[in-house]
This record gives sequence, structure tokens and C-alpha cells, in this order.
Amino acid sequence: MKAVIPAAGLGTRFLPATKAQPKEMLPVFNKPTIQYVVEEAVASGIDDILIITGKGKRSIEDHFDRSFELEFFLKNSGKIDHLVEIEAISNMADIYYVRQKEQKGLGDAIRCAKKHVDGDPFAVLLGDTITQNSTPCTQRLLEIHEKYQSSAIAIERVPREKIERYGIIKGHEVEKSVYHIEDMVEKPSLNEAPSDLAITGRYILQPEIFDHLEQVSPGVGGEIQLTDAMRLLDDIYGYVFPGRIYDIGTTVEWLKSSLDMALEDPQVGHELREYLKKIIQ
Ligand code: UTP
Repeated sequence: MKAVIPAAGLGTRFLPATKAQPKEMLPVFNKPTIQYVVEEAVASGIDDILIITGKGKRSIEDHFDRSFELEFFLKNSGKIDHLVEIEAISNMADIYYVRQKEQKGLGDAIRCAKKHVDGDPFAVLLGDTITQNSTPCTQRLLEIHEKYQSSAIAIERVPREKIERYGIIKGHEVEKSVYHIEDMVEKPSLNEAPSDLAITGRYILQPEIFDHLEQVSPGVGGEIQLTDAMRLLDDIYGYVFPGRIYDIGTTVEWLKSSLDMALEDPQVGHELREYLKKIIQ
């Protein structure tokens, strides 16, 4: 199984931070967001990863490449822990890149992966979304894909006031936390929403998705919506992911993700907790 990580978006919700740097490279606590995403794919048993990049995204390639000067410096100055960490980043997986030439939406970004995935089912992990759980989200989706021999996507329950921001599914539960999906609507109004279960950024897709992406008509701003193409798939299952999900494309979610991870860190967690107590009083 190969993984595709779309990371070519403009990140307009996080301007000006994303004017000259990819939002996928924004650090969450002490690592760039996209490193968490690659680590999830690797922890799920995937070692062939295609990152969809675009203009202004070169630092993503540099991050996963070797840095001989840095390695030489760390070795000579005896900073062996750092050296091991830096070498591990470039050895994690076989990472390939393809550029999306125009930012025409997530559906169009996925279309750029057609040649690389070469007719097989493949995993998609959004480059701006971090999931945290003892069993990686993508690993669970792979198990569901194997069991039902069909596409599988992660879903989460969202509060009513946030429903209008997501793709929402209609379906029925076939086993604990697994839904057979009958329909999906992108950003429905509250009274049109068929449930409170939102599509969240992790997918295993059958290769037929590429034909469907050719059929869907572009929506607002010429963007091709992945949800519209997924509606045309024969069979698709949703897994209610029990862990934490952060869409770091918004400042508040990005802050929450960094805070959660820093609070769990043995070195800085205590100091940060004390600081937060003091400023919240
Ligand atoms: P978003 O829906 O958050 O879009 O993309 P965006 O354009 O990056 O951000 P905003 O809405 O302008 O703030 C979800 C994921 O899909 C990728 C993004 O890089 C992100 O990881 N994406 C989005 C693409 O690769 N290409 C696109 O044309 C759009």
C-alpha cells in the first residue's frame, strides 16, 4: 500500500504565517506538522509515500532530505542524540514528490497521484491534519479496508455549531464505530445535515476514485471536491476515530495541538502547566 499526502494548499486561513512557508511545515510543539503525518503512515506499515507539493513548498523536500553539513556539524560537536534524530527523519520512508500546478482543491491534488499509485488502493493522509491514538488512525482504516474490501475513511462526531464546516456522512452502523456510508454532503447547512459525523482527513481509497474525479464538476473557485468523487464509489465505510484530531489549518486548532503535546512532554510539561495556571487565574 502506498500513501499520498496532499500538501499543496495555499493555507489562506493561516495567513500571514503561511505567506512564505507551507502550513504543513508549521511546528506543532517541536516538529513540523507533516512529520507527524509521515510518522503515522510509517507506523501503519506504509513506506512508500507521495507528497503532493506546489509552489513555495520546497522546505518540505529539504526537511525529509539528508543534510550533510548539519550531520557533519552535529557529529563533530558530539551532539549525538540530535544526529540520530536528524538521520532518522531522512531514513523514515521512500518519499516521492509531485507538484500540483494550480491549487484547484483537494480532489485535483489527489488526481496528481494517479500514475504513482498505479491502479492499486491507496491511503490518503492530509498534510495539515494530525491524529493521535495508541493505534494509528491509518492502520485501523487499513484493517477495515481489508475486511470489507472497499474504501474506508475516518469520521468524527462534531458539535452542531461546526457541522457547516465539514463534509458530513449519512450511514448506518454495521459494527462498533464502523458505518456503512450511504451518502455524503460537503458543508451542509445545519438542517440539511444527515448526521453529526464529519469526514476528517484520513482515507483508504479504491483506484476507481480517479475516474470519478474526472467526472465531478468543479465547485466554488474551480475547486474539485474529493467528497463529490467519493459519493460515486460503490462502497465506502466510515470509522469513528476515537483519538484526537487536529486540523492545524486554523490558528486555534494549531495552538491546541501544540499545547496538548507540550503538556505531555516530560521536559517542559510541568513548567508549562504552572505557567498556564498563573496566567488563567
Ligand atoms: P484545505 O482544505 O485546508 O485547503 O486543505 P488549503 O487551501 O490548504 O487551506 P485554506 O482553506 O486556504 O486555509 C487540506 C489539505 O489538502 C491540501 C492542503 O495542503 C492540506 O494539506 N490541498 C488543498 C492541496 O494539496 N491542494 C489544494 O488545491 C488544496
